[in-house]
Amino acid sequence: MSDNSVSILRRPRRNRSQSRLRDGLKESSVRPAHLVQPLFVAKETANIVSMPGQKRFSLEDLAQEVQELESLGLMGVCLFPALDDDLKDRVGSEGVRPGNLLCKAIALVKEKAPGLVVFTDVALDPYSSDGHDGVVRDGEIKNDETLDILAQMSVLHAQAGADFVAPSDMMDGRVESIRLALDDAGFCDVGILSYTAKYASALYGPFRDALDSAPKFGDKKTYQMDPANSKEALLELELDINEGADMVMVKPGSYYQDIVYSLSQNSPVPVAVYQVSGEYSMQCAAIEKGWLEKVSLITESLLSLRRSGASIIFTYWAKEFSKAFK
Ligand code: PBG
Repeated sequence: MSDNSVSILRRPRRNRSQSRLRDGLKESSVRPAHLVQPLFVAKETANIVSMPGQKRFSLEDLAQEVQELESLGLMGVCLFPALDDDLKDRVGSEGVRPGNLLCKAIALVKEKAPGLVVFTDVALDPYSSDGHDGVVRDGEIKNDETLDILAQMSVLHAQAGADFVAPSDMMDGRVESIRLALDDAGFCDVGILSYTAKYASALYGPFRDALDSAPKFGDKKTYQMDPANSKEALLELELDINEGADMVMVKPGSYYQDIVYSLSQNSPVPVAVYQVSGEYSMQCAAIEKGWLEKVSLITESLLSLRRSGASIIFTYWAKEFSKAFK
C-alpha cells in the first residue's frame, strides 16, 4: 500500500482499470445484426428535412440502398410508403390495392437483398385522408371496422414477400385478425411483430413530416397509450401473446425504457424497441451543434436500449452505426 492510500475492501474501479478487461466484462453489446433500418419509399427520392441524413427513396434508389445495407450485416429493414394526397381516402383503399408502391418495394428488397429480413408497417395512416391509423367515422376511430382492412393489408404484404408484418395501429384485437387472415391465405410462416406498447408520443413528429401523415383532426390518444401508464403495457403484452404475436415492440425507446425492461422480464417472445424519429432528430440537432459527440452518443443510446432488454432495435442509425462498427 502506498503511503497515502487507505484500505477500502471493495474497489469496483479495479475491474475498470484496463481496456481489455472492460471489453471482456461487458454485459450488453450491440451489433448490426440487432438493428433494423426504417426506410421510406416514395415516387421520387428526396431528403427529409426534419430527419437529417434520412431520405424518401424511389424504387430505383431503394434497390441500391438495400444492397448496401445487406452488405453491412443489418438484420433487416422496415418499409413505409409516402404517398401523394390524391391516393389517400377515408378507408385507406390504396393500402389494400395489389401492386401498390409498398408491394413493389417489398418485392424489390427481397430480390435485391434476400439476406435482409423485411418488416412492413401495418396501419392506415400513410393511406388515410384523415391521417389516422384506423377508419374514422363521426369523428371517432372505429376499431372493429379497421381490423379487416389491417388483415387484408397484411396478406397483401405477405404476398409481396414480407417476412414480418408489424401492426402499429393499436386497434384492439388486430394481432388475432391478422394471424387468422395470414393463416387462411397460406402464410403461416409470415410472422407478426406487434407494436404492443406504443405510446401517444410527441416524438413521432418528424416521421409524420416524412410521410405527410399527421392527423387532420385531433390526436391519437384514443388508441395509442398514455405516457403516464405502465401497467397497461402488461395487459397489451398478454393480449398480443395470446393473439399470436411472434415479437412485441415498445415505442418510443428513450423515455420508455422502464417499459422495455418490464416487457423483457415478462415476455416469452423477443422484445423489440423503436428508437423513433424524434429521438433521432434530437440527437442529430445536438450533434450538428457540436454539443454532443456522434459516435459515442449513438453507441450509448443503442447500448442502453439493449441493456434495458431489447433484442432488436428499429433505429434510423442502423446504417450509420453498422458502417462505424468494427
Ligand atoms: C404509424 C406509425 C408511426 C410511426 C411508425 N408507425 C407514427 C404515428 O403513430 O403517428 C412513428 C415512427 C417514428 O416516429 O419514427 N402507424
